[in-house]
Amino acid sequence: MILNDLTLLLIVFFCTRTFTNGSDWLKNKKGPLEDKVLEVPEETDVPHGVYWFQATDPNVKSYKLGGETDNKTLIEKEGWLYLREPFDWETKKVHIITVEALDADLKTVEGPVSITIIVKDINDNRPDFNQTLYDGVVRQHSRPGRPFMRVYATDKDDPSTPNAKLNYSISNQIPDTYKVPLFQIDSKTGEISTTPAGAQNLDPNTDAEYILFLTVKDLEGLSDNAFSRNTQVKIIVKENLWKPPNTVIITENSTDLHPIQITQVQWNEPGAVYALEQKERYPNFPFSIDEDGKIYVTEPLDREERETYVLVVFAKDQNNANLEQPIEVYVSVTDINDNPPECEVPLTVLEVQENEKIGNFIGSLKAFDLDESGSLNSVFKYRILDQEPKLPSSTMFIIDEYSGNIQIEHDRFQKTEVPEYNLTVKVTDMAGDPTGFYTVCSVVIRIIESNDQIPIFEKQQYELNPIPEDTPVGTTLLTIGAIDNDEPKTGSSKILYHVVEGDAEGTFAISTDEETNQGHVVIKKPLDFETMPVYKLRIDAKNPELLVPGVDYNASSTAYLNISVIDVNEAPVFGSTEYQAMVKENIPVGNTILKVDAIDPEGSSIRYRLEGDVFNWLKINSETGDIITNTALDREKTDTYKVRVIAVQFESPALESTVPVSINLVDVNDNPPVLTYPETHFCFPVQESKAVLMKAMDKDLDPHGPPFQFSLKGDGNNNMGDWEIVPVNDSFAKLKMRHISFKKIQYDVKVNIRDNGHLEKTYTVSVLFCKCSQNEHCYIDVQTQTGRPTVGATVGILLGTLLIPGVALSLVFYLLKKNKEPKTTTPDAKPML
Ligand SMILES: *[C@@H]1O[C@H](CO)[C@@H](O)[C@H](O)[C@H]1NC(C)=O
Ligand SMILES: *[C@@H]1O[C@H](CO)[C@@H](O)[C@H](O)[C@H]1NC(C)=O
Ligand SMILES: *[C@@H]1O[C@H](CO)[C@@H](O)[C@H](O)[C@H]1NC(C)=O
Ligand SMILES: *[C@@H]1O[C@H](CO)[C@@H](O)[C@H](O)[C@H]1NC(C)=O
Ligand SMILES: *[C@@H]1O[C@H](CO)[C@@H](O)[C@H](O)[C@H]1NC(C)=O
Ligand SMILES: *[C@@H]1O[C@H](CO)[C@@H](O)[C@H](O)[C@H]1NC(C)=O
Ligand SMILES: *[C@@H]1O[C@H](CO)[C@@H](O)[C@H](O)[C@H]1NC(C)=O
Ligand SMILES: *[C@@H]1O[C@H](CO)[C@@H](O)[C@H](O)[C@H]1NC(C)=O
Repeated sequence: MILNDLTLLLIVFFCTRTFTNGSDWLKNKKGPLEDKVLEVPEETDVPHGVYWFQATDPNVKSYKLGGETDNKTLIEKEGWLYLREPFDWETKKVHIITVEALDADLKTVEGPVSITIIVKDINDNRPDFNQTLYDGVVRQHSRPGRPFMRVYATDKDDPSTPNAKLNYSISNQIPDTYKVPLFQIDSKTGEISTTPAGAQNLDPNTDAEYILFLTVKDLEGLSDNAFSRNTQVKIIVKENLWKPPNTVIITENSTDLHPIQITQVQWNEPGAVYALEQKERYPNFPFSIDEDGKIYVTEPLDREERETYVLVVFAKDQNNANLEQPIEVYVSVTDINDNPPECEVPLTVLEVQENEKIGNFIGSLKAFDLDESGSLNSVFKYRILDQEPKLPSSTMFIIDEYSGNIQIEHDRFQKTEVPEYNLTVKVTDMAGDPTGFYTVCSVVIRIIESNDQIPIFEKQQYELNPIPEDTPVGTTLLTIGAIDNDEPKTGSSKILYHVVEGDAEGTFAISTDEETNQGHVVIKKPLDFETMPVYKLRIDAKNPELLVPGVDYNASSTAYLNISVIDVNEAPVFGSTEYQAMVKENIPVGNTILKVDAIDPEGSSIRYRLEGDVFNWLKINSETGDIITNTALDREKTDTYKVRVIAVQFESPALESTVPVSINLVDVNDNPPVLTYPETHFCFPVQESKAVLMKAMDKDLDPHGPPFQFSLKGDGNNNMGDWEIVPVNDSFAKLKMRHISFKKIQYDVKVNIRDNGHLEKTYTVSVLFCKCSQNEHCYIDVQTQTGRPTVGATVGILLGTLLIPGVALSLVFYLLKKNKEPKTTTPDAKPML
């Protein structure tokens, strides 16, 4: 009864289907009784017509099903195979059943045939998270994008279809203090990480716990019809232990036992491997780290050698991969007073004029200290220990305790009595503290006659012939002189010459000759007629010592010097010391590559010409300096083309300047690949499939060279059936026989190669099939070609091999003998099948 009802339903169902979908639908659903593979979607409405078998035997009265029907398929007596219950892909994906046609006596008259029913998945399963709630821990400042946890969902649908392709997303984040997502999820993998905003803002002291509301969708999340599922993730924010410790302060020159632990770093989980590196390359790096992250200094440091160190600390996993960015540890070395003061010069020499008065400053004693400047360790106290002779008083001089400035305490100097005083000065650091280091420095104070004479120039006006503007720096132009009648070789008679007017740029300087007291006028900076053709110098002569009261410098201590600069016709000057250009090698002829520009200092017009253009690739516009392509360039000849441009003055072409010009040629794909292959023959008849190894090359650079694509080019002879291309690597491929029934002729196979830049070329690979001698040398029967045999013609022509004549001769006779035997003279052998 049930069966009959089903049949009825089925017929109604078919009628509506046939009506709505036309006969095409039915055409694919019926056919003779034979083996078949049928596809049926799961979860169909039933009854569902699968296929209408139509046996040919007229005696067929009914059909019978066998195999894995699982009580889901039935066949009715007209041959309709239908489903009475839907398939479920998740339960069973393939059903193999048998169908046979029976006659009235239920005897099999056709079949059985085997019907494979493949169940097609439909999206009938919701994705499922494997936990109802997930927990995670994230560290503050953890690197954005680095997953710290993961959720998993599964979908029972066919994984090869979108039905099981899942897409994860975050719907909500609570709390949302910053109004930006702090977490992100990888839509494909479900991995959760912080966003850059999260890396910046997550803070256990603000919000220590977050809840994320997650959604997973199938159909790749792209369809409104996707199934979805939700879950929650609770995330605890924890402090990140991986952070730089405070600056470490180490006192230099420590006498404690080393190594000494100075600080410690800590990765968030146990098991990290720590490594220490120096940020700059210090000559000496006395630090180490142990497996617990404890950092040590391994020896006493010296602040005077290096004041700060930056240690870079890495935390790595077992595979030596960094777990996070390294952190930097700053080490500052503090000073101790471990260096004594030092006198700047072994003997400080000062001068005092006989008439100098109490309180006059006569000079300073200078000392220095290697310890930290600005610390007490380099603050000095100066004290005069001794004065020799102690005449007329034992305290002729005083020294300022802190500055070292020396002044006169008692006057009445008499050079004839005491020509010089020796002072012994004690310099103590720590501002004179008894614990400080000290040094003793010597000072000599020479008594000189009073400076009551002024320098008088020999002449007021100096003459100098005009000097060419190209006179080199350092040249002494002339010597000037003044006379000072004070005591020789003292600060009262020494003359210092100064240019006080007419040379704002400091083009000239005057140095005093220690012996003669004369001044040498020297060029300090290049002269340039175009900017400064004349100098009018005013020169003053003065003493380093003060003049006694009542005496003053007057006009006799001043001289004048006019310097005229002569214009020199200078060579043109290029705007650059070197010109470079980068062009594609296929730049069209006539295009400008670059422009050189030179100017003439005298303003004359310039003409340009090229030198070293060995390939005749370039020309230059002689007036504008434009360098233009003359012929096609070729990077494959040289990739850097070096030429020179000469600039000459139009009026006086003798003056010229040269500048190097280099043109870098950028590769373009202008060389088709080149095919090479060894000259090849195969012995006929062919016994086994063989191949020719072909190689492609290209003069162009990467990416216009390999990998090459080899392909057969079909032609009239249709090589395709005979040969195939088997790639070997980027540059090699094999031309391989597809069968072994080749004729005894030469095959010209068209092979196309294409370089990586899509430039291609077709080559003919000639492969000869020939009769072979015993040592596999090729020969051709002459008689098969001429048709008129002669003795000579029966001799084989040896091909393609290098044989020494003797061997060749014996082979010829061997062949001659063989050819006397009766033989068929078909030029081509029959294909061997
Ligand atoms: C198949 O269905 C028939 C009738 O509904 C029932 O008698 C039979 O037990 C079923 N067989 C299996 C294997 O379920
Ligand atoms: C969920 O699946 C992942 C990956 O297969 C597994 O590591 C995790 O333990 C699973 N969770 C549960 C509760 O089974
Ligand atoms: C996941 O779904 C979203 C839309 O919800 C879509 O924009 C995104 O491209 C999907 N991701 C993948 C990997 O398909
Ligand atoms: C360490 O200090 C002592 C004096 O305390 C000194 O002699 C020594 O030169 C110092 N060493 C360094 C490296 O500064
Ligand atoms: C001063 O010292 C020098 C050596 O530096 C010595 O030759 C000279 O005799 C000393 N003069 C006096 C007056 O002590
Ligand atoms: C400058 O002074 C000296 C004496 O000190 C004197 O001989 C000279 O004539 C003076 N020169 C002028 C120009 O007054
Ligand atoms: C130097 O120049 C000044 C100012 O132009 C002029 O008065 C003087 O005569 C010149 N001296 C000589 C020697 O040419
Ligand atoms: C490519 O194959 C050829 C022939 O087998 C070989 O000689 C060549 O070394 C190979 N080249 C590379 C890069 O593997």
